Amino acid sequence: MIPAGPEPSEPAADTLPGREFFVLVEVDPDGRMPQQMRRDARKYEQSEGDDERDAIAAQWTRIWMTTGGLIGDPAAVTTRPEFKAMWPRLRALPKGSRVLDGGCGRGEFTVWLTRAGYPTLGIDISHAAIAELQSAYPDAEFAVADIRETGFADQSFDAYFSWGTFEHFEEGLDRVVREAHRLLRPGGLLFVSTPFDNLRSAIHGTLREPWIREPNGPTRFYQWRLTRAELATALMQHGFEIDSVKIILKRHGLQRWIQSALGLDEITTPVKAAARALSPVLPAVVAGHMILAVARRPAKL
Ligand SMILES: C[S@@+](CC[C@H](N)C(=O)[O-])C[C@H]1O[C@@H](n2cnc3c(N)ncnc32)[C@H](O)[C@@H]1O
Repeated sequence: MIPAGPEPSEPAADTLPGREFFVLVEVDPDGRMPQQMRRDARKYEQSEGDDERDAIAAQWTRIWMTTGGLIGDPAAVTTRPEFKAMWPRLRALPKGSRVLDGGCGRGEFTVWLTRAGYPTLGIDISHAAIAELQSAYPDAEFAVADIRETGFADQSFDAYFSWGTFEHFEEGLDRVVREAHRLLRPGGLLFVSTPFDNLRSAIHGTLREPWIREPNGPTRFYQWRLTRAELATALMQHGFEIDSVKIILKRHGLQRWIQSALGLDEITTPVKAAARALSPVLPAVVAGHMILAVARRPAKL
């Protein structure tokens, strides 16, 4: 039982009290202690070389090329849970507010938000992806940059979001979170999603589920998986105030679980149907695929 703290007064709509997460850091609702992120490995591809940065860029360029190309569809953005979490907060900012998309991938969010009146800079480490995006979407702004060290001026953005990218550095999240804090103006908003260390992966981590196939041969670091308290802690340690950290993509996580339990190479129609049936009866903590934090760089007093 988590001891209840003093009852907070009703916060103003634009304040982020972070109270929930001071409690979370003491008692992790996901069942593990903070700061013990779990690592996932992936197959070592010799062609990617040994430099981590080059390898990540080569990996994602290859993934995009083999799964529909380097250009995303901006119209698909509004169906994503990340959009649903971010848009109500973003649209409350004045039109023209400057936004950063860190690890923009196929650029859908950058284009959609720019067209909605929030000029967004999409940055990615993949030169190939950025070159394609620049020629496909001349009305949006894209640049090659490393989110750990962008070179942009202090406090140049009103909001910063990054989906599924902060977790890809073996060194951990410190540098990327510190850089996010530097880039945001006081009061600026941060939205971050990372993989969730759900119950399924916790079981796998301790029992080594026999039905899960590990990559054959040599591997290299792929990503960290975090609990909600770990993500909150990683942000708070660099000065962010936390509004919420929520589990997202439960059904997708279930699909991946069923797929791997059956030893399938892809998510088939029956797998989707099974996940759809199970999703309402299983809590998100069991199989949620990602977590999404909403945080703020505190405004100056
Ligand atoms: C999981 S994908 C997410 C893409 C996109 N945000 C989305 O939600 O569809 C991770 C992306 O981060 C990019 N990335 C990885 N490391 C990066 C870094 N250090 N700086 C900038 N982008 C990086 C990859 O090239 C890839 O496009």
